[in-house]
Amino acid sequence: MTTSFALRRATSKDLAAMAEADGRAFGVHYTDSDLQEIESVLDPDRFWLAVDTDDAIVGVTGAFDLHVTVPGGAVLPMPGVTWVSVALTHRRRGVLRALLTEQHREFVEQGHALCGLTASEGAIYGRFGYGPTTANRSVEIDRRRAVLRADLPDTGGVRQAGTEEVRELAPELHRRWAAGVPGAVHRGPAQWTPQLADHEHRRGGATALFHLVHPDGYASYRRLHSERAAVVTEVVATTAQAHRELWRALLAMDLVETVRCRALALDDPLPLLLTDPRQVRTTGLHDGMWTRALDVPALLSARRYGIEIDAVLDVGDPFLDRGGRFRLRGGPDGATCEPTTAPADVRVDATALGPLVLGGQRTRPLAGAGLLTADDPALLHRIDLAFLTDRLPVHGTEF
Ligand SMILES: CC(C)(COP(=O)(O)OP(=O)(O)OC[C@H]1O[C@@H](n2cnc3c(N)ncnc32)[C@H](O)[C@@H]1OP(=O)(O)O)[C@@H](O)C(=O)NCCC(=O)NCCS
Repeated sequence: MTTSFALRRATSKDLAAMAEADGRAFGVHYTDSDLQEIESVLDPDRFWLAVDTDDAIVGVTGAFDLHVTVPGGAVLPMPGVTWVSVALTHRRRGVLRALLTEQHREFVEQGHALCGLTASEGAIYGRFGYGPTTANRSVEIDRRRAVLRADLPDTGGVRQAGTEEVRELAPELHRRWAAGVPGAVHRGPAQWTPQLADHEHRRGGATALFHLVHPDGYASYRRLHSERAAVVTEVVATTAQAHRELWRALLAMDLVETVRCRALALDDPLPLLLTDPRQVRTTGLHDGMWTRALDVPALLSARRYGIEIDAVLDVGDPFLDRGGRFRLRGGPDGATCEPTTAPADVRVDATALGPLVLGGQRTRPLAGAGLLTADDPALLHRIDLAFLTDRLPVHGTEF
């Protein structure tokens, strides 16, 4: 079937219709106050629309101007693709492909090194060069049986705080946290506003947020009385001590049988704090942020490497044609990366590059999946050690 549609940039006049289109795609009826919030955080200039012959919206894609920490501590601007939807009446006719082509062409023109998104479905974005980069697990903790090890001193420092106080304290704590975590998305007003607005339709029947603060972190949770449960929405800690004391407080909730958390990093030390690590029961594994390189030399030279590495990478990028051969020379103190005509040592699929650079995938699974190949197994091992990060990346913010 052929469908005629045109692409154009959104304006502030489109916001209400965009919200309606988004609500239809994701099954949400936005209220007037949601709309006010949307107007305050969305920049229509960062949105592309597909419209039919009557200028009715049949597809949307947008971006938030985010920043992300890369291994070694550099912070790069990163468009965060968001609000992607196509009308039910226009699906599978190339509307999304057309929108993403235009949007990514613009990201390249603007000189971005990478872009990211969080995906509603896993099968959509690989074809556009994105690969799953961060991961979370959902856990359930039997609160009464989850006991912190006796050798861990209770150093205190945690107190309950109201949302207004958290509004003051959390941005600086989050900034400190994000500076030290690969893959961490730095929050601006467009991320903090919905986070703290705590809309009822996003609470899943649970209470509004409660908060705990510590000089080096904070945690937020809800109570789900019908299930005698507490749902931890985030624990942001810049020190191991803050992490431990926040969890000590979260596990001290009498009247709560189960503590749930949907976003525990795969290498979070929580299980190891307990006398019985098995009490942190994994109930689900999810991919988090997906990334793709837009400027390979800029991205590869922005990070630091675990060991000295000198290799020619051949990046395949059918969607954007931003691949080619690049010589990476890097180490713990810095890196350079330049286009080259030298023969390739390693071939990397676009979908593997973002995850590899941010430390979210190691070479063995990528090689096993045919997404990264090298003739010399010793070089693969060196690449692995060079790209390895001391902690797994965490994005920490949905967008
Ligand atoms: C996902 C969505 C935006 C796709 O829009 P669309 O206009 O139908 O997509 P297109 O026709 O441009 O398809 C582009 C390609 O992606 C594929 N594709 C699209 N949606 C897909 C899906 N849900 N699962 C698997 N593949 C999908 C198409 O087969 C096509 O492949 P090809 O170009 O390689 O042949 C649309 O189905 C939608 O609005 N879904 C509900 C909201 C949603 O999930 N949005 C994504 C938020 S992250």
